[in-house]
Amino acid sequence: MFIYGKPGTGKTAVTRFVLQHLSAKSSEIDTPLSVSYINCRLAGSEYRVLSMLSQSVKVPVPFTGIATAEVFDRFKQGLKAMGGILISVLDEVDMLVKASGDKLLYELTRINETSPTGKIVLIGISNDLNFKDLLDPRVLSSLSEEEIVFHPYTADELYDILLDRAKIALVQDGVTEGALRLCAALAAAEHGDARRALDLLRVAGELAEREGGRAITEDYIRKAQWKIEHDRVTEVLRTLPLHQRLVLYSVYFTQQENPKETLTGNIYETYERICRKAGMEPLTQRRVSGLLNELDAMGIVNSKLVNLGRHGRSKRVRLSIPMEQVQSLLKEETRLS
Ligand SMILES: Nc1ncnc2c1ncn2[C@@H]1O[C@H](COP(=O)(O)OP(=O)(O)OP(=O)(O)O)[C@@H](O)[C@H]1O
Ligand SMILES: [Mg+2]
Repeated sequence: MFIYGKPGTGKTAVTRFVLQHLSAKSSEIDTPLSVSYINCRLAGSEYRVLSMLSQSVKVPVPFTGIATAEVFDRFKQGLKAMGGILISVLDEVDMLVKASGDKLLYELTRINETSPTGKIVLIGISNDLNFKDLLDPRVLSSLSEEEIVFHPYTADELYDILLDRAKIALVQDGVTEGALRLCAALAAAEHGDARRALDLLRVAGELAEREGGRAITEDYIRKAQWKIEHDRVTEVLRTLPLHQRLVLYSVYFTQQENPKETLTGNIYETYERICRKAGMEPLTQRRVSGLLNELDAMGIVNSKLVNLGRHGRSKRVRLSIPMEQVQSLLKEETRLS
């Protein structure tokens, strides 16, 4: 079976939940079933995935030291000896394939043809919708015998998830109904991602707690959303390379000095001035234009083509993020302070 869908749509949570139920049922009706859940990204290598598979059929494997083919044989023998069915979930399976190719998957899908006792049911999970292109058609056809697509959650579904979690996480009446509804609606409008919805509620809770609020209200949800967005942008800004940051500061200063004159030419002049003051060699205007385009693509600045009559055309560039955010980044610059 192959399960795919965007991040936070419940693939992992639902699969683990169903596995638990299958496990419980199998002991209830005394049928030989084992389950194994492996997150391929966390496992980190093909060898680790294989050794975790082996452990699930009670075959211990040393951390290193034996050939992968040998581990695979031991796993097959363990599966045979155990009999019954092994349901094996390979979560974030695209990571395994991107790192090591699809050889292991291929061999796993072939096991049932040669093993009369001890069958394997493979469940692959991925949030990379293009992942299937990486697979050999033979692997794809085995893995896609059954496909389930997880769709983004609706606001009502997110509300139910949040309500359940709030009951566990918060004191009684720790959140208003309106706040939960708003939280669900915001997350649904964005990606339908339950992880983000839960994050939003958590951050709102932390803000309320810090301010000594009695309950999470709609106001805290809005503040939390602003904070999450602000933190995300700050993180992006911090990782910009030096000259990209200098270009950003040039937009900032140009806009601050004269909000009407923020043409690329003005920005380049500011940029040259900053470089000179900081004792650095400026890049060419072409390169700076390129960096501006990149900032635009990241949603940090916004540029618009303007017609200057007989002077031809130019671009007007403005910050798309709050001025204060650039200011606080500037404060962190020890070298340019
Ligand atoms: N139906 C649900 N009921 C309760 N909680 C849920 C439900 N779906 C998702 N969640 C919670 O939302 C969060 C994200 O869900 P999950 O980890 O299953 O997403 P995913 O689809 O596996 O995402 P990714 O592609 O990033 O791995 C988890 O904390 C999970 O517990
Ligand atoms: Mg997951």
